[in-house]
Amino acid sequence: MIWTLKKGFYRTQQRVMKTASVIIPFPIPMLLSGPGSVNNLAENIKVRGLKNVLVVTDKILMDLKVPEGFLESLKKNGIKYSIYDDVQPNPTIENVEKGRTIYQKNNCDGIVGFGGGSPIDCAKIIGARIANPFMSVRRMKGLFRVFLPIPPFFCVPTTAGTGSETTVAAVITDPSTHEKFAISDLKLIPKIAVLDPELMVGLPPHITSTTGMDALTHAVEAYIGLNGTKFTDENAKNATKLIFENLEEAYQNGSNIEARSNMALASFYGGSAFTRAYVGYVHAIAHNMGGLYGVPHGLANAIILPYVLEFCRKEAGKKLADLAVAGRIGTRKESTEDLSVKFIEKVKTMNKNMKIPTVIKELQEKDIPLIAKRALDEAHPDYPVPKIMTHAECEALIRKLLP
Ligand SMILES: NC(=O)c1ccc[n+]([C@@H]2O[C@H](COP(=O)([O-])OP(=O)(O)OC[C@H]3O[C@@H](n4cnc5c(N)ncnc54)[C@H](O)[C@@H]3O)[C@@H](O)[C@H]2O)c1
Ligand SMILES: [Fe+2]
Repeated sequence: MIWTLKKGFYRTQQRVMKTASVIIPFPIPMLLSGPGSVNNLAENIKVRGLKNVLVVTDKILMDLKVPEGFLESLKKNGIKYSIYDDVQPNPTIENVEKGRTIYQKNNCDGIVGFGGGSPIDCAKIIGARIANPFMSVRRMKGLFRVFLPIPPFFCVPTTAGTGSETTVAAVITDPSTHEKFAISDLKLIPKIAVLDPELMVGLPPHITSTTGMDALTHAVEAYIGLNGTKFTDENAKNATKLIFENLEEAYQNGSNIEARSNMALASFYGGSAFTRAYVGYVHAIAHNMGGLYGVPHGLANAIILPYVLEFCRKEAGKKLADLAVAGRIGTRKESTEDLSVKFIEKVKTMNKNMKIPTVIKELQEKDIPLIAKRALDEAHPDYPVPKIMTHAECEALIRKLLP
């Protein structure tokens, strides 16, 4: 009885959120796309009157000199810059505070997030803290708690990916509790996003595959959830098709610019879908694998996705069948049942072909109750999942991920 009431409450809350996401005008970043498009960003920053930006990135990208051309073009355009390159994968509150200090010391007037989701999210929260120094990172957790607008913000994704270049979200870890949580606000959407496939050519195969499966998870969770709209459905289907057609090629042959371009676009579409229609249990569980064990976000999603789809295959059958058709792995002549099974098999085959395991090697039995609790606290009531999970079902699903 209590469980039925609870489920009713979740569904009501989700309907309110759906109405809100249709009414709220989501800003769409201006796009600079195509090979070499990063070279046009500095000019676009200059015309906005900015003189001194903070570039947030990570050490690996600096060592690989990925941001070099962009930094040169800042110089050419007379824009000063400071660099904060200490962002770690699954960035922490400490990363944010360090970057914020550099911004303040150097009197910066804008921020560029350059890298995968980790530097981009860290850059978003640095901006949020600069504009709202009275709010700690923890207090900004959740929806619409970034009260004042952040400094002008630009994104250059180097993975494809998180879609963070078009989402309201920034995900951060509190090292004191090992909890990973999201801050979501329209003010975190950048002014400009650069989709330059040349920056992704050196992305190693294992990161290409896992970040690409993150993008697929965004598309799938947004589509099978109950809050999809015509806009998010179209984006989710486009992303699925592009990922099915290009991810394994980008994994095998990283210098295929067309495959990289298509994956960059797929990531953007996936982000555009889930930022309005939400994610689901795959993300709720994956965030905890990241917070507790440092498992990379895309890897955790890739492993968990088939298990969650199996859990809700009946309820999400029609939607999975749509995605199978959109992804060109089946036709309308086949039954919904067959198509939905085919879709899950396709995910498993892609994982297998790209050497993604079926279990999480860090997972320990003793942590399962805590992970299940935190995952469900994250998902309920907001995530409009096709089938609501009990704590026992969540624990049972996580147990399947044990090595
Ligand atoms: N804000 C959002 O909407 C959103 C959505 C999904 C995930 N996320 C978050 O994003 C983070 C993960 O981001 P990610 O998956 O992009 O990984 P990441 O940013 O952590 O990068 C992973 C690794 O790839 C390297 N790398 C990145 N680009 C490279 C390139 N072009 N060449 C060579 N190496 C490169 C990085 O140096 C790093 O070591 C997680 O914290 C996750 O929770 C955010
Ligand atoms: Fe994600």
